[in-house]
Amino acid sequence: MHLSPIPPHARVRIVATSRRRAAGDIFLEKHWRKWIFATVKIPLFDPSIQNSKIRSDAIGKFSEIFDSGEFILGKDVELFEGNVARYLGVKHAIGMSSGTDTLLVALMALGIGHGDEVICPSFTFFAAAGCIARVGAKPVFADINLDDFTVSTDDILEKITDKTKAIIPVHLFGQLADMDAIAEIGHRFNLPIVEDCAQSFGALRNGRQSGTLGTIGSFSFYPTKNLGGFGDAGLVCTNDDDLAEKMRIMRVHGMAPKYFHRYIGGNFRIDTLQAALLNLKLPHVDGDIANRRRNAEIYSDELADVESIVLPVEAPGNFHTWHQFTVRILGGLRGEALKFLLENDIGCGVYYPLPLDAQECFRPFVDGRRMAKNAAIAANEVISLPIYPSLSDAQIRHVASTLRKFFAKNA
Ligand SMILES: Cc1ncc(COP(=O)(O)O)c(C=O)c1O
Repeated sequence: MHLSPIPPHARVRIVATSRRRAAGDIFLEKHWRKWIFATVKIPLFDPSIQNSKIRSDAIGKFSEIFDSGEFILGKDVELFEGNVARYLGVKHAIGMSSGTDTLLVALMALGIGHGDEVICPSFTFFAAAGCIARVGAKPVFADINLDDFTVSTDDILEKITDKTKAIIPVHLFGQLADMDAIAEIGHRFNLPIVEDCAQSFGALRNGRQSGTLGTIGSFSFYPTKNLGGFGDAGLVCTNDDDLAEKMRIMRVHGMAPKYFHRYIGGNFRIDTLQAALLNLKLPHVDGDIANRRRNAEIYSDELADVESIVLPVEAPGNFHTWHQFTVRILGGLRGEALKFLLENDIGCGVYYPLPLDAQECFRPFVDGRRMAKNAAIAANEVISLPIYPSLSDAQIRHVASTLRKFFAKNA
């Protein structure tokens, strides 16, 4: 019995194989004139195949850094910053300790604080709103569009007051919010735009990279991201020379020169090792995004006629990187569908189960305000399916057919 064609993340329970399909296929093979079933586990995310491509170079780099004793910032960080700046087509790229810290340093560099309001979407990860509150400002939650899950520009306009000092659109699940409209709002009201690109490295709008259409672009290299590191890391980018210098100085407690503090900053430094390893992964990111796009296409074909599923769309002008493939399950069946997938060894997740304007910690900021309606609908209906680049076509089809089976049973 030869099991090597099965990818490392596939957990085979009982396999008797005489006939092989494509690598990653589920095996259903005849053995001793009986059908014996093989099950594979398809996790929501698995970076092992992506990371194995750089394994030997990464180990070489680790040895080099181990021997050098240079663990913080340094030449590998500068190299990474230069490579990302070229990739994005932006003047300045500055490596940071995490995606969350990029948002924090951006708000600090913009001088946002007590008495200010910053608008961000209600349906997203916590980081943007958390950072707004941490600098002492008030997060103001705008609703989203249900078709692409990004922030509603109409609702941004509704929420602008004379206290508004910035807008943070989030390019959720791998595609850009309507940056044409948001940049125009920024110009009209003289508001800086901090793009939260944690989930959208490599995404484009009308050919321009996410993170380069506003004032500051903010990226995360958390391991699950499109460009995923081996721990925490992030990066800010900007075409503004003054903001770039300020954020670079704020990265090291606002020191310039050493032990003379021009600003109140923080320890926002990126590790040398993270930057060096990310440098090795950067050349692979476009190929990975192409695979994610292919996976999204297969899902969209396979699930097109399932009435109870609303498929995600690529908004006009966007090049979607499909960080997540997030469907909406109608008819109050989300919980059951989630359970069915998990019982069938398919990893799936709910990003996000509770909108930010309904979170306990933000209660003091939302009292008396109308809750974001679409954000609440999305939070009740979404399921994200596995879409990582190394999934085989057969695995994607298996996930889709399992979901179809669920709806056939629950029609
Ligand atoms: C939309 C969004 N913003 C910000 C962050 C924060 O990034 P990090 O985890 O690197 O701090 C994340 C990470 O999960 C995210 O998804």
